[in-house]
Parts: sequence; C-alpha cells; structure tokens
Amino acid sequence: MSYQTIRVEASTGYDIHIGRDILSQLPAFIRPLLGECRLAVLTDSTVDELYGDKLIDILTSAGYAADKFVIPAGEASKCADNLLEFLNFLADCRLTRSDAIVAFGGGVVGDMAGLSAALYLRGVKYIQVPTTLLAAVDSSVGGKTAIDIPAGKNLVGAFYQPRLVCCDTALMDTLSPEIYRDGCAEVIKYGVILDAGLYAALRETPFNRENVVARCVQIKRDVVQQDEFDNGIRGLLNFGHTFGHAIEKLSNFTVSHGSAVAKGMLIAARFAPLCGLGNITTDLAALLECYGFDLSCRYSAEELYDAMLSDKKRRGGNITLVLPRTIGHCELVTLPIEEFHDKLKQIID
Ligand code: GLY
Repeated sequence: MSYQTIRVEASTGYDIHIGRDILSQLPAFIRPLLGECRLAVLTDSTVDELYGDKLIDILTSAGYAADKFVIPAGEASKCADNLLEFLNFLADCRLTRSDAIVAFGGGVVGDMAGLSAALYLRGVKYIQVPTTLLAAVDSSVGGKTAIDIPAGKNLVGAFYQPRLVCCDTALMDTLSPEIYRDGCAEVIKYGVILDAGLYAALRETPFNRENVVARCVQIKRDVVQQDEFDNGIRGLLNFGHTFGHAIEKLSNFTVSHGSAVAKGMLIAARFAPLCGLGNITTDLAALLECYGFDLSCRYSAEELYDAMLSDKKRRGGNITLVLPRTIGHCELVTLPIEEFHDKLKQIID
C-alpha cells in the first residue's frame, strides 16, 4: 500500500499521510505518537453510517479502547450545544491527557473535534481523518478550529494543530458529486493563488486525486509554516472566500461553501483589473465551468457590500481582498471601504 507523507513544522510538528485505502494503517501511524491509549472518535451521521463500524473495528482490533460520538451531518451541528455535549462525553469516557480525539469526517467534524481538543483538560492531542475532499485539502491541515455562534460562522475557535492527519482518498468515493465539487473549488483556489502548474493540471478531469490532494496540502503546509496565526500570507488562502462568505450568508446557506467560493473567486478575478492587477476572468470562468459550477450571482453590489461589511475580515475603515495578478500568483490588496464600494458597483449590477 503506497502513501505520501508531508511533514508540517508549525508550533506542533506533525505528519500528513495521503493515500488510497490507508485507513487500516491508522493504528500504525498512531502508535509511535501515543502508545497505548483511549481514543474518542467524533464523526457525523453520514460518515458513521458508511464507515463508523469499520474505523472502530480497525482501532479496537489494534488494541485501542475507542468510543464514538455522532453528531448530525451538516453545518448546523457546529454549535455550542454540541461542543458542550461532546466535552461532557469526553469527561464521561474519562479521557486523559495521554489519550486523543479522532476527527472522522469533513470540516464540521474536524473543526468541532479540534476545538474540543484545545479546550478539554486545557489541551489533549487530536488526529484528523478527513473524509471529504474539502477537509483533506483545507480544514484538516493548519490547526484552525472553530464553532459557529448566532453572531456568525467560525467566531469562536482556536489555533490548535493536530498531531497527525491520515487522509484515505478512497473514503471520498462515496461523496455526492455536489460535495466533491465543493472540494474542487478549494483545489482550484490553490492553483490560482500559488501554483500555475497545478492549475494547468486541473484542466484534465478527473484529476489524479492522491497527487492533487498532496500538492494542495504541500501548498497549505508552506503557507501555514510561514504564518501559522494568520497575520499575513495565510490570508491568501481566503481567495474567493470574502465574496463567497457574503454569498453563503445572503443565500441563507442554501448555496454550498464550494459553490459560493467559486462565485467569489470569479468576482475577485473581475475586481483585480480595477486595482491594476491582471485579468484572469475568462480563463478562470472556463475552468470553473468545466467542473460544473454555476457562476451566476443573483445579488446586487449593495447586498454583497452589506453582507461583507459585517464579515470579520474587515478591519477599521479598510477591507483586504485576495486578488489575482496572474494564474499562480495572488496578492493581498487593502482598500478603503468607500473605494471598494465604488469598484464593486462597477463590476456587479
Ligand atoms: N482555510 C483557511 C486557512 O486555513 O487559513
């Protein structure tokens, strides 16, 4: 069984293993890090139905005591009530600092497990086992953890790195085309922001999943190592997200994260020439369409502007956008809010 390993050297160093059918190797990956211990698995109802028993079987057959906590699938589960319930579950399992939490699922599960790990006993180890393409290339790597509160998404969280990421790409075979496509938006994002070679490779579909996940993870690793706590270059990973979050919010979250990011990347591409950067709009639109993204945006400049102003990425009287200069090179551009408003009206409506 072959797999690739990417090492992250952040405040905590850890390996990310990527390969097809490597879930059975998880105990072998864990053992050098933890020895004998108890593992508390957090998963969601969809993943549990498909793979929950398999994972528990792999862990218990290897001699680990494993307990499982299941939350309903979907973003609504990333809430304070579930966080508290899971923390109580960890206490009921008598999890200690020698034990670990395993996040088995997509971004919601990974975020909730990571934040629980940061909080419980003031910090226990956790392991990411992503099951979606989006979690594999983005949320399982880099240590951003959070829950949503009524005031907004991801407003309560912590930077807290996992001790291990085990990405079995075969688990993605059962993803719906829509959820898989959500991950493709993040993959395309990496090509635009930092890797023209990856972008070119994505013109051939379907892409080689293992190699593309590994390349995205390398890019994210390089960014996180330079700016773990998101004070500078890590902001590039938000390409398409500032506009995308506004679209998600305006749609009452009926537009999925990936679809909103795809629309957001295209708006950013159209915005770039107004700031003296390049124009990749035609090329990017063609690639996104190739992946089946609907690129229409039914919101006015005014609606987008209002939704973005309450976004936590705005600082003072300025807004920072990630804009492409060329394919493979994006820049952080900070504009006064008024100038942003005027320019947005020039490209939308
Ligand atoms: N998902 C963006 C980041 O990890 O910074």
